[in-house]
Amino acid sequence: MYLILICVFLSLLILYKVLQKEKNLPPGPPAYSIPIFGHLLSLGKHPQETLLKWCQARQSDIIHCYFGQRLVIVLNNYSLIKQAFLDDNYSARAQPFIFEEHFHGKGLTYAEGERWLVHRKFAMDTLKKFGMGKFYLQGTILSELRDVFQHIDEQNSTPLDIKALLTHGLSNIICGFAFGERFSHDNQEFRHIVGLIEECFTLGSHDSWITVFPLLRFVPMKSLRGNYKKFSKNFHEIFQFAKKLVQNHDENIEETRDYIDEYLKQANLDKKSNKFDSTFDMDQLITSITNLFIGGTETTSTTLRWAFIYMIENPKILKTVRQEIDDYMGDRNLFIQMEDKQYLPYTTATILEIQRCGNIATLGGSTMHRNLQATTLNGYSIPANSYIAANFYACHVDERQFPHADRFDPTRFLSHDLKLVQRTQGFIPFSIGKKSCPGESLANMELFLFFSNFIRHYDFYVVNQAEQINSKLFYHTSLTRAPFDYQISFDRRSF
Ligand code: HEM
Repeated sequence: MYLILICVFLSLLILYKVLQKEKNLPPGPPAYSIPIFGHLLSLGKHPQETLLKWCQARQSDIIHCYFGQRLVIVLNNYSLIKQAFLDDNYSARAQPFIFEEHFHGKGLTYAEGERWLVHRKFAMDTLKKFGMGKFYLQGTILSELRDVFQHIDEQNSTPLDIKALLTHGLSNIICGFAFGERFSHDNQEFRHIVGLIEECFTLGSHDSWITVFPLLRFVPMKSLRGNYKKFSKNFHEIFQFAKKLVQNHDENIEETRDYIDEYLKQANLDKKSNKFDSTFDMDQLITSITNLFIGGTETTSTTLRWAFIYMIENPKILKTVRQEIDDYMGDRNLFIQMEDKQYLPYTTATILEIQRCGNIATLGGSTMHRNLQATTLNGYSIPANSYIAANFYACHVDERQFPHADRFDPTRFLSHDLKLVQRTQGFIPFSIGKKSCPGESLANMELFLFFSNFIRHYDFYVVNQAEQINSKLFYHTSLTRAPFDYQISFDRRSF
């Protein structure tokens, strides 16, 4: 009996290998593909690291593997990612069931084809119109920062988890754009919604069993169902919140104040001109602003939480950043502004190095792409509708682009005389191509203004978890690669 089973298993394995060869797919991973699960069970806690190891084992920057039944093509270097993502054929998203269920192919992240092209352009134009990438937006960012500082000062150096404060302040900036409103730190409803977003980022994962077997959501056992119910409930509440804010807007407004006004104006124009194929409907609006709200809330806050860890871990670098800022600012008790950035190259390079080492974009959930048509890449066949996993982590630890990649060294982003910031090829924290992050210039402003002003105005230290703070170990991977929660104390500096 056992002999028959072993023979069947080996024949299936040989058949599988022959079929893969015939398909001319990129090399497969060193791990076994288990029927139904594919390679999911071998991915471990940090799939981006496992996938890099698999590529290294195969000595290939492109490999294939299976998440469940789904073929995934893993791209492990900058030039392959660039080649793929500059091609519109790769502009569709992977549609894991758990996201598909809430976004229904609408909004910015999960729309595709003509709908995506129209709404991506609308979003970029509207974000620009309301100040994204322009200096005048800094007034809004600095006013949120001032509020965060006030809350920190009220703590009188007592250790606090900075996550909620940062996320609240940063999401308020998006709320200004999207909803024309900001919410005070005491607003319970908003605190609750921001908490739900934070939770989604830790609950969500591309490899949960439910993405492979959607029917498991009906199973009463939580061990099989995973976080599905919680994730789903959170998304539902976030959508309801966005819906309520949309309903507060008047579609006949002349002077537009925010994204929603601008959208309603366009929808009205389409209606008046009898544009029957208009996609400016309510679901599309609510999904787009939810995408912006979710996309712009946790990401920058997580990068800043990495920043404190890298600065505590590298006191000499912190000292150099602070020296540069103090020399430039002198005894002016003012906030550092975007205009000052050009005089602070070391500080700017340090932020880039935090992003390179922090590597917050993982393969989970929102960053995998899908190719619409069958094509070839690097001489291999890529069947239509494959999931394309761009391993940004692999790019950022690639020794060919970043020698001694495991060292935290801001000077790698500086010219020889340390006076000019140089962006190295292969540095793509916001991805690349038409599907890349629409919030990049906003995030860059937020990171500069928050980081430089924190260094200028506060000394900070971690007391209770000092031994745990190790950037190489102290993190988890879900929708983002984020540090575990920690308590940090802040003391005001005087000038
Ligand atoms: C440090 C902060 C941030 C990082 C590292 C980051 C990174 C990324 C990455 C890697 C992607 C996937 C791109 C791709 O699939 O090729 C993405 C998508 C996206 N980001 Fe960001 N992001 C950040 C901040 C923001 C902000 C502030 C906003 C809001 C304005 C935002 C909104 C979005 C949206 C809506 C998408 C989906 C775009 C689409 O599918 O067309 N992100 N981001």
